[in-house]
Amino acid sequence: MGCSGSMIGIDGSERACASEMEPNSQWEPSESSENVVPKKLSVTYECGELIGKGAFAQVYAAKLLENSPEEYVSTTSKQGTPRSSSSKDKRSSSKDKWKPTTEIEFAIKIIDLREDLEDRTPRARDASLSSTKSSKKSDRAEKEIELWKKVSGHPHVVTFNGAFERDQTVCMVMERCCESLSQMLRCKPLRTQERAVTIVSEMLTGIAHVHRLGVVHRDVKGDNYLVGGDTGEVVKLCDFGLSAMLPEKGTRLRGLHGSTPNMSPEMLLHKGHDDRTDVWSLGATLYETFYGVHPYEPDIFSTQAMKELIRKGTPAPKFIVRSACKTSKLKPSRGMERFVKNLLTREHLLRPSAKKAVKNLVHLTSPSKLHWALRKQRDPDG
Ligand SMILES: Nc1ncnc2c1ncn2[C@@H]1O[C@H](COP(=O)(O)OP(=O)(O)OP(=O)(O)O)[C@@H](O)[C@H]1O
Ligand SMILES: [Mg+2]
Repeated sequence: MGCSGSMIGIDGSERACASEMEPNSQWEPSESSENVVPKKLSVTYECGELIGKGAFAQVYAAKLLENSPEEYVSTTSKQGTPRSSSSKDKRSSSKDKWKPTTEIEFAIKIIDLREDLEDRTPRARDASLSSTKSSKKSDRAEKEIELWKKVSGHPHVVTFNGAFERDQTVCMVMERCCESLSQMLRCKPLRTQERAVTIVSEMLTGIAHVHRLGVVHRDVKGDNYLVGGDTGEVVKLCDFGLSAMLPEKGTRLRGLHGSTPNMSPEMLLHKGHDDRTDVWSLGATLYETFYGVHPYEPDIFSTQAMKELIRKGTPAPKFIVRSACKTSKLKPSRGMERFVKNLLTREHLLRPSAKKAVKNLVHLTSPSKLHWALRKQRDPDG
């Protein structure tokens, strides 16, 4: 699978690149296609092509510049697994793990803080730039970094390598992946039950890991899983921009977060939410993947109508595969159908936890994979 793209310097050519790039499919796409790359990104990384766009950020390929070992070491997490583009690099990096080489590939997520600042008076803007970062986007970025750092270091979570600020942007360095899971499935739809189970278990294991560390993702969807790793097809959870720490027992998180089709009933009914909201969102993501339509989809689309359907719960999802489904070319097994139904349990107290759902998945696993699944069950992060 081709993951690496050609690198270009930081000059005017990136603006053209940014505007030519198709934004990845988003429920509510970002209006902005403006280039946000700081003129001099850092002494450590050289920025390459635009590889993805979300509502809040642009993501660029990057490579490590030579002669910058100090900053590299200081911004790289212990578990950092930068992607090497050749076997030669792999050999050298296993001998000397953090030896800087221009062949190591990263991705840099860049969040433009200027819009926040433009809303303010010039005095407030200056104050914000020089000292406190009280604007909404920078608060969000700070939280994202804090929580991502906490959960990084798991095979099914995209590795966080460090972050820095440049020219009113926040830059987050991470392992480079190939593409999002939704992009991969649109090119290479599911054709076997075995592949479906593997992908589902990797998606779920990522969620179970972040929950175990007390983090709720709150934006689980196909665009927020990337595929990468050694095979180029390891599924990894990314984008912790809406994540939050689980509150104390007995209390709930508040507000509406994430993508409308994947929002849980309890969130839309303003009952408060916890880690089970991610389990619902995974169910909605899988439903769309297997059946080609959202679980609650109004005849005439509007965001409000969809929210209303999710709140009411009728008509219930039909579990009928659309012939036009682009991400899957198989009829899910009865077991898989039951599994997805279970994730979409409307009453959140009755919905399984991610940990419990991992156990349920064992029943869908072929005997040859049973051993692997049981090991995961004993040690979900193993
Ligand atoms: N490490 C990476 N390797 C390859 N592509 C990536 C990487 N990180 C992100 N992308 C691409 O960029 C897209 C946007 O990234 P991300 O989801 O982090 O941004 P966002 O603005 O926070 O998104 P959202 O709109 O979901 O809030 C991803 O869907 C993916 O296509
Ligand atoms: Mg995203």
